[in-house]
Amino acid sequence: MNAPLGLLRQPPTVLIGRGVRRSLPAHLPHGASRAVLVTDERMAGAADFIELKTLLEQNGTSVYLIGSVQAELPAADVVEAAKSIECEPDVIVAVGGGSVIDFAKVLAVLLAHGGVPQDYYGEFAVPGPTVPVVALPTTAGTGSEATPVAVVSDTNREMKVGISSPHLIPVAALCDPELTDSAPPSLTAVSGTDALSHCIESFTAVGREPIATLPAERVFIGKSPLVDLYALEGVRAVKRSLRNAVIGDRDAATLRTARDDMAFAALAGGLALGTGGTAAAHALQYPVGALTHTPHGAGIGALLPYVMAFNRPARVPEFAQLALALGAEDTGDAESLSYQAVEAVRALLAQIGIPATLADLGVAPGMHTWIAERASTARRLVENNPRELSVDSLAAITAAAHAGDMSILDDHPY
Ligand SMILES: NC(=O)c1ccc[n+]([C@@H]2O[C@H](COP(=O)([O-])OP(=O)(O)OC[C@H]3O[C@@H](n4cnc5c(N)ncnc54)[C@H](O)[C@@H]3O)[C@@H](O)[C@H]2O)c1
Ligand SMILES: [Fe+2]
Repeated sequence: MNAPLGLLRQPPTVLIGRGVRRSLPAHLPHGASRAVLVTDERMAGAADFIELKTLLEQNGTSVYLIGSVQAELPAADVVEAAKSIECEPDVIVAVGGGSVIDFAKVLAVLLAHGGVPQDYYGEFAVPGPTVPVVALPTTAGTGSEATPVAVVSDTNREMKVGISSPHLIPVAALCDPELTDSAPPSLTAVSGTDALSHCIESFTAVGREPIATLPAERVFIGKSPLVDLYALEGVRAVKRSLRNAVIGDRDAATLRTARDDMAFAALAGGLALGTGGTAAAHALQYPVGALTHTPHGAGIGALLPYVMAFNRPARVPEFAQLALALGAEDTGDAESLSYQAVEAVRALLAQIGIPATLADLGVAPGMHTWIAERASTARRLVENNPRELSVDSLAAITAAAHAGDMSILDDHPY
């Protein structure tokens, strides 16, 4: 057997910890004097954001503010923003959730290379470096601060679409858990679920022939030993802290520790997915999100246990490792532990209020084939799944997730 191929693609600077946001001026590219500062309406009025804007101005950096990014990121909005910017910025600073950070990434592409987002859909379509992006996440979820992808909504398409290129990786990820303290329990739950899914999907992704040209052929190369490090640590952090981060009756110190840990989990998930890539749960969430207009992490959560039940037979040792990371006792029986991984994820998501089924999420009956057909077009995700995904198998996962019935996928008595 060949030696495994390891690959990391990550921001040159990653900083995590309470208060690190205040070091923002030190992480601007050398000599940067003009910044575009991107956020959404909620954050634009928040004291934390105003403090960051002031820090930039005191640093002598002129600031052009874009303060109204919409959740789930309509592609046309980025085109409008690119047209409105008259200066040539040296840096784009994003302060927000995945929608804001992805907006900044796409804006950075348009300002550097012109055109419209559609020109860059898919993998490796961005021709060169972009305006540098510094990302400060305010949700503990997407990991976008560390990834080479931005996901946009396009009114000409039925579902969201990705721009994937190593040029999209921010030059600095400043992960300050204090920025997530204001997130309500429901947002903490859906974003934490997204982080968990990034760890699980990259840890169980396909492993490709470890040839040296692979990173030039694919932005996301699948499972690798380096991906595994981040993925497993992220799952452990989610196990330790997602419940405490969501459930509101914890004392302040517990809540704070849990939010810190979830910021770490989200970053670890971003570092894992940024090289390994995600798979079936993400492919299916795209059409589910288009149908229901529900948050990315909510759809992911309604799908993840069923995707896991489908994939489990192809990844028994990995699922056993996941079970241990999720708190199972090590019996040495990998088959039995692998089932426990599915059960542990389902139980955890139920505890934090994630919809248990696609029906609970608002998907109408009879949409299985429609969802499966669209999911099957997300090739980079479908090809990254450890079990082959046909339209039929995607429809079976969808049917199971809609009915809340694992027996459609596996006769194990879950
Ligand atoms: N690029 C990537 O690697 C990647 C990975 C996964 C998901 N995504 C994308 O990211 C987007 C979802 O991002 P998200 O889950 O971070 O949410 P989001 O950025 O869409 O924000 C959701 C809502 O939460 C609010 N919010 C954000 N931070 C808050 C805080 N600290 N306190 C209170 N409210 C806050 C926002 O104002 C918004 O109303 C989707 O478009 C998804 O497709 C991108
Ligand atoms: Fe995701």
